[in-house]
Amino acid sequence: EPVQVRLDVTQQPAGPRIEPTVYGHFVEHLGRVVYEGLWVGPESPIPNTRGWRNDVVGALRQLGVPVMRWPGGCFADDYDWRDGIGDPAKRPVRMNKWWGGLETNRVGTHEFMDLAEMLGSEVYLAANMGSMPPRAMAEWLEYMTEDGKTTLAEERRRNGRDKPWTVKYTGIGNESWGCGGNMRPEYQSDLHNQYATFLRGSTLRAASGEGGTSDHLVEVLMEHSGKHMDAFTLHYYTLPGDWTKKGEALGFNADAWAKTLKTAMGIETRIDVVSRIMDKHDKDKRVALYVDEWGTWYDTPDGASALWQQNSLRDAMVAALSFNAFHRHTNRVKMANIAQMVNALQSPVLTDGPRMLLTPTYHAFDLYKPFRGATPLQAKLETPRFRTGDVELPAVEASVARAEDGSTQLALVNLDPQRPARVVTNLKGDARGRVLTAAAIDAHNTFDKPQAVVPAPYAARAGAQGLVLELPPKSIVVVSVGKP
Ligand code: AHR
Repeated sequence: EPVQVRLDVTQQPAGPRIEPTVYGHFVEHLGRVVYEGLWVGPESPIPNTRGWRNDVVGALRQLGVPVMRWPGGCFADDYDWRDGIGDPAKRPVRMNKWWGGLETNRVGTHEFMDLAEMLGSEVYLAANMGSMPPRAMAEWLEYMTEDGKTTLAEERRRNGRDKPWTVKYTGIGNESWGCGGNMRPEYQSDLHNQYATFLRGSTLRAASGEGGTSDHLVEVLMEHSGKHMDAFTLHYYTLPGDWTKKGEALGFNADAWAKTLKTAMGIETRIDVVSRIMDKHDKDKRVALYVDEWGTWYDTPDGASALWQQNSLRDAMVAALSFNAFHRHTNRVKMANIAQMVNALQSPVLTDGPRMLLTPTYHAFDLYKPFRGATPLQAKLETPRFRTGDVELPAVEASVARAEDGSTQLALVNLDPQRPARVVTNLKGDARGRVLTAAAIDAHNTFDKPQAVVPAPYAARAGAQGLVLELPPKSIVVVSVGKP
């Protein structure tokens, strides 16, 4: 027997448009994200374009990558951009302090910008505030974006790039409260202002932000640095357990399912709290909020590369719930970057030697594509709740928006792993789209069975009472609703 859900949609906008950049990615020099996952080198037998693997680039182009944050994460505050330019044979080899292994610097600024151009992606540089002087950050930006005949621009030209690149976004440090320098917010705030002052060229300046708990940090940064930033940032990871025992990516039970989804939904509470503090100091909402690291984080299996984890239907649900939360906060949330693009944490793409698979998270991104640039609409959802162990959740969660082409886009998530849901709406048109679901809560794709979890076509007709949608248990349905 399905649970009964009611959804009433108005034509009133619920906020400004959903920036496509909330569907952004994060690429860190860590484990097999860059080397192997994206870059195999021009000499590799794995088909590639100037070193970037064709299968992964093809899948990402298909998905559309509006923005990429690079090269960290924690890596960013230990990175000297000069290590990654010039003759590859002469680039220094360094230890990757945070994630282990050697950093060959084979992928540097020119290579990364080549990838960004192939993907048609904006660039969000994560620049070093933790261990390099302000001049280093300023010079990196000048090297990349200067059109005139300065010594740095001429050096870029000698290294093979005539035209300047556009660096739309620059992050000033990363997790300055932790791996970015273990700073007090007061000290970070002064440093931020100093680095932001000397940045060169036109770029939006994002302040290293908050990791889930420190309201004080938000207060201090917004009060003392608000006028020197264009964005403040938030990191929010979803762990079924805690940092000592995070939990398994696969083979989990219904309690862990519910706990994970509940924690994922906590992103909205955190966005609310951070936004309210921002509102106090920035009434006009000039400063954006970038959720520039988000996703699930499980225990890394023995022998796997750093932060590698499998990705199941549960991760797709986390993605859908996060997207819905971003859609409800478009007045502040202008960018979000899933951690991470390939082979680490909640990855849309996994690779194994020459093989590649698309995870359920990739498919969630794909289902939600019509929401990019759409305007969220006000809607009222009445849903029963269900209980698993000591966790209570709404049966259904929703987002609705008017797309740029005028169509109404509706996303529905049935969180209940047992019961189907019937959603009765006041919409008058028929619905067409796709559904993502599977038999098991930890269903996932493997290199031998890469199509185990893929979207299927979905359609529903409007009756006399309006459009009614039947949702299978543990499913994501995204449809375009036609005019009656
Ligand atoms: O995404 C992995 C790490 O998580 C990043 O390097 C860091 O910023 C965060 O703590």
